[in-house]
Amino acid sequence: QDNPVDGHKRVLLAAPRGYCAGVDRAVVAVEKALQRYGAPVYVRKQIVHNIHVVTELEEQGAIFVDEVDEVPEGSHVVFSAHGVSPMVVAAAEDRHLHAIDATCPLVTKVHREAVRFARDDYEILLIGHDGHEEVEGTAGEAPDHVTVVNSPAEADTVEVRDPSKVVWLSQTTLSVDETMETVNRLRTRFPELQDPPSDDICYATQNRQVAIKKVARDADLVIVVGSANSSNSVRLVEVAREYGAQAAYRVDYADEVRQEWLDGVATVGVTSGASVPEVLVQEVLEALAEAGYGDVEEVRTAEEDLMFSLPKELRQDVSGQR
Ligand code: F3S
Repeated sequence: QDNPVDGHKRVLLAAPRGYCAGVDRAVVAVEKALQRYGAPVYVRKQIVHNIHVVTELEEQGAIFVDEVDEVPEGSHVVFSAHGVSPMVVAAAEDRHLHAIDATCPLVTKVHREAVRFARDDYEILLIGHDGHEEVEGTAGEAPDHVTVVNSPAEADTVEVRDPSKVVWLSQTTLSVDETMETVNRLRTRFPELQDPPSDDICYATQNRQVAIKKVARDADLVIVVGSANSSNSVRLVEVAREYGAQAAYRVDYADEVRQEWLDGVATVGVTSGASVPEVLVQEVLEALAEAGYGDVEEVRTAEEDLMFSLPKELRQDVSGQR
């Protein structure tokens, strides 16, 4: 098929994109644990939701399990960036596991909020996706006080015991706009609804959404690099569509970019989720260059320089090294 836009093809590359501070820390934690203790090191759940990262760590000797009861007694186990409920911590202690907690500090912050509001006997409406590991971990801090609200529609039907003592918290990787819609709908029903003390949707999620919104306005097609179970990556696809991209697709790898997506496309927007190594984006850019989209312009909407120190178990054990 003739491409009417030959000669005017370009890529708008969103920035910030890719690794956030919490993902970087979690991946380094597994690598350091492998160096320090030798293979195998067990990891409960995918350390971060990216298939490439998980495969590479497996090659280095990490073994990914669903639950700690699959880990041999006395072994080292890393808890993933998404966090764990106190029940998981207790189960690991029961098995005498050496746990390394790679929970992102910004997820831990939400856990602390849940504990505090539960102690003050608030009912917590946790906006997030039922079944996502982060939601399970946060809800597990106060199971009797938390109700998960999955969508704006659920805000219209959720019931609370005492409308004068309700607070909302959220998963860190949601769509900012959709979450605000959910909150507004909740507040119509519960005018005394309290806000979290600070944003639960993390800086990285917010920054990546702001950047792709700007790119999507000028893009015919948006390609988001990220895995299917990566909440923030999937949200980037939705946000791109809402903000003007005629089409938006998610890929794990460059070879998933289909030729027909490019038919009639002048401008391709590219971004990646917070768990995605930059090498995967560069491979997509190479594939696009081969298809004639070699002109790449970065569209930057924020600078990021946040870094988290390693989990304390590794700081103590590998003193002096990072
Ligand atoms: Fe943490 Fe946000 Fe990344 S919660 S792991 S900084 S996406």
